[in-house]
Amino acid sequence: MLKGSKVGLRARHDDDIAILRTELYDDVVNASRAEGPPWRPITPGSNDKRLVVDDSAQGLVQFSVVDVDSDALVGTATLWGIDPHHRSAHIGLGLLPSCRGKGYGTDVVAVLCYYGFTVRGLHRLQIETLADNVGMLRSAERNGFVREGVRRASTWVLGEFLDEVVMGLLAHEWKPDADS
Ligand SMILES: CC(C)(COP(=O)(O)OP(=O)(O)OC[C@H]1O[C@@H](n2cnc3c(N)ncnc32)[C@H](O)[C@@H]1OP(=O)(O)O)[C@@H](O)C(=O)NCCC(=O)NCCS
Repeated sequence: MLKGSKVGLRARHDDDIAILRTELYDDVVNASRAEGPPWRPITPGSNDKRLVVDDSAQGLVQFSVVDVDSDALVGTATLWGIDPHHRSAHIGLGLLPSCRGKGYGTDVVAVLCYYGFTVRGLHRLQIETLADNVGMLRSAERNGFVREGVRRASTWVLGEFLDEVVMGLLAHEWKPDADS
């Protein structure tokens, strides 16, 4: 398990799946804001790739996020689009509603940076998020990510086009947290 100051990132357990489906992916507003494709329901027991991890997938690493002290599930974290030639990848995360605004997101980004830069030897990490997602923008900025640009009206979300912010962090800019 990867450990930060508040979270642990571990493999997906069977018990996580129903909680993540109900609290994250059944939530039309959350899913529409956090994911590219349009929302559709996930059938219980199906092998939806967001929930059931394929350990052989090369460009994608999916974690369940737990509270480091209690081991309670708090959400998901993903390194996706891993490109071994350009040594880059994207970061994604989603916390259960009751776990937001408590500092977990900032620590998840820190641990994903440790995984991306130190464990995987990547050169660049990128985050794309809606321009009004203050929690995600701040979680990234607190870890050194800089705003590189805005993709104007690029994302259709529940009846309107919204701007998306692209944030990036290079390995030599990263200041690792001592306890990641
Ligand atoms: C976005 C998300 C990952 C942020 O994680 P979090 O644990 O809630 O964020 P933190 O508690 O670490 O807060 C980080 C900063 O953002 C601020 N913040 C958090 N939520 C906020 C909100 N809703 N409105 C304004 N500020 C907010 C915090 O005050 C903190 O600010 P500071 O660094 O100035 O002290 C989490 O809220 C989440 O999972 N949301 C739903 C899914 C989602 O949006 N995923 C990202 C898709 S790209």
